[in-house]
Amino acid sequence: MKIIVEENYEKMSNRAALLLASQVHLKENSKIGLATGGTPMGMYNKLIEMYEAEEIDFFQVTTFNLDEYCGLSKENPNSYHYYMFDNFFNHINIKKENINIPNGMAADYNKECRDYESLIENAGGIDLQVLGIGANGHIGFNEPAEKLNVMTEVVNLREETIKANSRYFEAEEKVPKQAISMGMATILKSKRIILLASGKNKVEAIKATVSGKISTRVPASLLQTHPEVTMIIDKDAAALIS
Ligand code: F6R
Repeated sequence: MKIIVEENYEKMSNRAALLLASQVHLKENSKIGLATGGTPMGMYNKLIEMYEAEEIDFFQVTTFNLDEYCGLSKENPNSYHYYMFDNFFNHINIKKENINIPNGMAADYNKECRDYESLIENAGGIDLQVLGIGANGHIGFNEPAEKLNVMTEVVNLREETIKANSRYFEAEEKVPKQAISMGMATILKSKRIILLASGKNKVEAIKATVSGKISTRVPASLLQTHPEVTMIIDKDAAALIS
């Protein structure tokens, strides 16, 4: 695991954007896995700036998002579809048909999950996966548990995740209790992974991810088994490991 500690959120975001851009420069038709949430917002803003300055071209890029809430339509401002278009896709030249996000309104969730895995596989796998991390150590929506999902599946969100994500909703009761999420093997099959973390509330999760034993109770700790992981974290998140 390579660990890069940046002074603050802005520097962390810029570094992540540069790393993603270098992947696209190396391979124009890269398959990129993307995350939502507060952490990657700065990276998306920087990538938009780079696109406007003609420093990166997304025309041949394909994306696969990690997860989507069950029961929220693409038009719902709290859906990850909406987040991705609003914060990123609407501002760059990616082709709509190259954007992949699980459908939270699918009539048959099991089929949706199987189809999502096939889409990733048929695309030749993910070249670079961007991850955030929950304060409880989750990645995607793979929550701490005795057993983790291997492939893309419907997952139950834990109480602390619902609470953390309620900051975007009118009320905690409105946060969906389930989501479709890539599984651990889906994530770990990616050729390269970058994990971003910022802020004091991630400090324990980061410590457990890099120096703890590998445990399903800290899903991110499984990243220790992957040969190409770069963690880009700010000083606050790194306080217990540096
Ligand atoms: C979102 C996702 C989640 C978030 C995590 C951290 O697509 O996969 O694992 O990365 O919940 O969220 P923030 O960045 O809001 O702290």
